[in-house]
Amino acid sequence: MQDLDRLRAEALAAVAAAGTLDQLEAARVAALGKKGTVSGLMKSLGGMGPDERKTAGARLNAARDDIAAALDSAKTALEAKALDERLGRERIDVTLPVRPESQGRIHPISQTIEEITAIFAQMGFVVAEGPDIEDDFHNFTALNIPPEHPARQMHDTFYFGERPAKSGDGAESTGGRHLLRTHTSPVQIRTMLRDKPPIRVIVPGRTYRCDSDMTHTPMFHQVEGLVIDETTHMGHLKGCLIEFVRAYFEVDDVPVRFRPSFFPFTEPSAEVDIGCSREGGELKIGPGAGWLEILGCGMVHPNVLRNCGIDPNRYQGFAFGMGVERVAMLKYGIPDLRTFFDSDLRWLKHYGFLPLDVPTLSGGLTR
Ligand code: PHE
Repeated sequence: MQDLDRLRAEALAAVAAAGTLDQLEAARVAALGKKGTVSGLMKSLGGMGPDERKTAGARLNAARDDIAAALDSAKTALEAKALDERLGRERIDVTLPVRPESQGRIHPISQTIEEITAIFAQMGFVVAEGPDIEDDFHNFTALNIPPEHPARQMHDTFYFGERPAKSGDGAESTGGRHLLRTHTSPVQIRTMLRDKPPIRVIVPGRTYRCDSDMTHTPMFHQVEGLVIDETTHMGHLKGCLIEFVRAYFEVDDVPVRFRPSFFPFTEPSAEVDIGCSREGGELKIGPGAGWLEILGCGMVHPNVLRNCGIDPNRYQGFAFGMGVERVAMLKYGIPDLRTFFDSDLRWLKHYGFLPLDVPTLSGGLTR
């Protein structure tokens, strides 16, 4: 028992000297563990007389409690220190932007729509939208495609079921049978019925046709453009689209060709081709022997203006429409249309865009 004060002092010194939780545990085992020094003295109590055991037992318990209390507070202090160190080491700045190596990617369709709208926004166009579920009037009739017009067959329309005729709520009185819009052109009609000229809108959106093969998907995307004012002519149409093509493909000398065509809602109408070369099996946008069709356009037909209550003797303008998947495939070398809609994460990782690569003309469309 003479050793107790020394052992107590040694144990407290070991606790005070412990710099880590491991060292602290070693100090605990050395003093209070089964084979520890204080525990050893506890065992010697058995061989003492009752009085001696009483005083020695009390001293031992007091020493054990002191050591246990020292262990406790040292443990709390070391744990707090360890946490502080870890917090210092693992500090994160939550105001930092998303890490560029993050998993998510922007789908090429979204990116392409952003690029296209950025270019037209620079020219003063504003974005307009319309519903995917349209009616016969906006999708066809008002666009100078009357019932029985052969152009309707070409559109492979998804129709909704015939609505039962109810007096006062007849489908005919509101715009006819409902359908999934086959192009974004009905938004021309909605815009002209709502806004007064001058009008300058760009309309990205989903479109639907009942067609599915290597080069067609039942849902696809278009961007429509519409300009209406008192002085617009075909020269403006050409200049605007040539400017767009050069900005979008980021090729200054890409040849652009306007080829006469037909759309019921424009007159005259044209399709726009861009130059390309196919050397060594690789398709390249720019000067070359080949042509690729990328969009349809024309001067808005007077009947369409009239259908929207706009006087064709005073106002005129142009419209165009292009397929987003098509121009995305051409710009980014995506060979197969159907992969756009496969939701294959490996594909998206390869062809997708980093979330912070927001396309702007000043910052570069694609970096
Ligand atoms: N709406 C036409 C289409 O789907 C494209 C187009 C739009 C043509 C506007 C001329 C003017 O193919």
